[in-house]
Amino acid sequence: MQRKQILVTGGAGYIGSHTIVTLLEEGYEPIVLDDFRNANPAVIKKLQKLTKKEIPFFNFSCCDFDKLIQLFKKYSFSGVIHFAADKAVGESVVNPLKYFDNNITGLISLLKVIEKYPNTNLVFSSSCTVYGNPTSYPVTESFPVGFNSPYGFTKLCNEQMLMQFHTALQSTKICSLRYFNPIGAHESGLIGEEPIGAPNNLVPFITQTAAGWREQLTVFGNDYNTPDGSCLRDYIHVMDLAEAHVSALKYLEKRKEGCNAIFNIGTGIPTSVLELIKVFEQETGKTLNWKFGPRRAGDVPAIYANVEKSLKELHWKAKRSVNEAVLSAWNFQKHSLITNPSIK
Ligand code: UFG
Repeated sequence: MQRKQILVTGGAGYIGSHTIVTLLEEGYEPIVLDDFRNANPAVIKKLQKLTKKEIPFFNFSCCDFDKLIQLFKKYSFSGVIHFAADKAVGESVVNPLKYFDNNITGLISLLKVIEKYPNTNLVFSSSCTVYGNPTSYPVTESFPVGFNSPYGFTKLCNEQMLMQFHTALQSTKICSLRYFNPIGAHESGLIGEEPIGAPNNLVPFITQTAAGWREQLTVFGNDYNTPDGSCLRDYIHVMDLAEAHVSALKYLEKRKEGCNAIFNIGTGIPTSVLELIKVFEQETGKTLNWKFGPRRAGDVPAIYANVEKSLKELHWKAKRSVNEAVLSAWNFQKHSLITNPSIK
């Protein structure tokens, strides 16, 4: 049987690269599009080594409509997973235009192509950031939406664009996945989260501090109205997240009619920053150098998912524990130390 061809925009990035592995395991043929603005080109070679498969890849921006349509002429995509976007919340506050430009234009360009190829299923990479600052938890998909940063604004805007596009072209099949906090790495230690420069996110900062690349972790805030005063998040193993994308593709493939569905992709389990540090120390036997610092602007005190809808309709749920996720991130960090000690 012919394998289904899936275009993966941003396929060399953190979540994209792990999803490529799962797509190949599930019998799909992924084709990567990435402009490597925030991804390491070496990831493609690592993916080929890991999966022992040739992975076609194209180096241009998803915003480039002319090139994108050529790609659709070359392949017969049954689906697109659209990861390609800028994603640093803090940077978006300083440079909102970069986010409007890439995240909004990228989706416009893709939708213009899908208008011409309306049988292409679309899985969109959204974020729990669209819930803004929720006043109760866990959050369901029907909670009010909002945004706290230009990045969050672009994700919400993208979801609205998809809704209105679908209203105009009702045969299209679209699924947005609202990710909670992805962490961890593939069990091989070959691929993982590779931020360029100092990490913004908690887990790479923890592993790089433990490895001696950073001197000390700062825990942002100890006076939140949470059980231990630090923020609560829903940390999900990146391989569980990768599997959610395949479940989303299958969900769309089974549907006879068009749709525009939205799902939370998390574990439903809240973990505080201090708990996560404890998990890291327990799992690795390392003592982490950390201190409390002031709250970080834009952080919400707590957010975690209600995952009933994804279980019921996508038939997906997170299988891996936060302990496994943290350990896999450390395994990746150790691997990076061996293979590329100069990257800091
Ligand atoms: N944190 C620290 N110290 C650090 C880094 C983070 O204490 O050095 C804390 C944060 O204050 C927060 C928690 O760790 O309480 C998680 O922070 P991350 O930066 O890892 O993740 P965020 O929850 O801020 O952001 C993530 C994604 C975004 C997404 C957002 C939605 O990175 O893309 O969730 O809430 F938009």
